[in-house]
Amino acid sequence: MATVNIKVNGKQHSLEIDPSTPLLWVLRDHLNLVGAKYGCGIAMCGSCTVHVGDIAIRSCVMPVSQLGTQEVTTIEGLSEKGDHPVQKAWIEHDVPQCGYCQAGQIMNAAALLKSNPNPSDEDIESAMHGNICRCGTYTRIKAAIKTASK
Ligand code: FES
Ligand code: FES
Repeated sequence: MATVNIKVNGKQHSLEIDPSTPLLWVLRDHLNLVGAKYGCGIAMCGSCTVHVGDIAIRSCVMPVSQLGTQEVTTIEGLSEKGDHPVQKAWIEHDVPQCGYCQAGQIMNAAALLKSNPNPSDEDIESAMHGNICRCGTYTRIKAAIKTASK
């Protein structure tokens, strides 16, 4: 156990935890931020995607000790009222089906648009291809990212 200081969605937290704990479990079990989901646990599905700084990362494989002073943003902190352009486009295109993968999809899409505000189809496919959706919502995800980029 050690004291880990972590800033999430603008709030500072001080936790007594094993520093090797994956960020996903710190978010879900210690901070009650359950938007990021556990899918595979081995960085292969993207359902646990959050931002560290402006970068989308797989929180299931990132020990919390690796964060240093970098701030974490989860789906709960992406926007104040669920009105980030990606979230609005998701509603417009009625993207989710079961919803399990969707927080990860949205966080990955938001990071893509931050680094590349006008992505081509190929850019979207390449950035999103590691985010698995077993409901097969890929066509709507792509359309929503296109809308959000406008
Ligand atoms: S749960 Fe992290 S990538 Fe699948
Ligand atoms: S909406 Fe069901 S897994 Fe993606």
